[in-house]
Amino acid sequence: MLNIILLGPPGAGKGTQAARLQATRGMVQLSTGDMLREAVAAGTPVGIKAKEVMARGELVSDAIVSALIGERLDAAQSSGAIFDGFPRTKHQAEALEILLAERGRSLDHVIELAVDEEALVSRICGRFTCARCGAPYHEVYKRPQVDGVCDVCGSTDFKRRPDDNEQTVRTRMAEYRAKTAPILPYYEERRLVRRVDGMASVEEVAAQIDAILDGAG
Ligand code: AP5
Repeated sequence: MLNIILLGPPGAGKGTQAARLQATRGMVQLSTGDMLREAVAAGTPVGIKAKEVMARGELVSDAIVSALIGERLDAAQSSGAIFDGFPRTKHQAEALEILLAERGRSLDHVIELAVDEEALVSRICGRFTCARCGAPYHEVYKRPQVDGVCDVCGSTDFKRRPDDNEQTVRTRMAEYRAKTAPILPYYEERRLVRRVDGMASVEEVAAQIDAILDGAG
């Protein structure tokens, strides 16, 4: 049972690879971004606090996201966990270590998706999803086979994230550089960091991650 972190700036492909690992290996994807968007959509007290912070591209408080992860971690007890978008600060990294230790678990790998930030702006600003089933698309890289119709469920309704505009994306990148990238040395000291080329195709990135998880990377 593996516990891994996917680390990288906005648009690096964390969600894409985490969803694939969940589908192919039965691991559980724990995305704090998805949890917060669910809370915003449901109008919970956490969602009300998070909504404006996320719209600006800033980080939600450590206490809120660490509590969200703690609540969901037990669901991944027997299958292994993929931490997607968490931790994002040193404080969150320390909180995760405690949450795992309390359950007799520890981290196996911190997989850093190394990317070119400028290319990510167009990746992010072009993406959209099916409003019904959530299937992901991109204006350039992955259009539906029939324009305006979801390949998976046939819906004609699509949506975009409110924080996927250039100005907010640049703030998200700056937050990553200032608060998240500095946690890499914390994991390097623990010899957990493995780097993959996040600019390669989705399939090539997947193969690099699989090699690490299978012990060949
Ligand atoms: P979150 O939802 O975590 O967003 P993010 O980190 O900004 O990451 P994204 O979801 O934008 O990108 P991704 O790396 O998952 O890439 P994806 O696979 O989608 O966080 C949103 C907000 O919530 C934060 O700004 C913050 O406010 C708050 N938050 C969340 N967690 C928090 C925490 N721990 N602490 C505090 N606040 C928190 O791919 C992007 C696009 O590229 C897609 O279109 C995809 O199809 C395409 N693509 C993926 N891989 C490739 C590839 N190899 N080649 C070509 N295209 C690719």
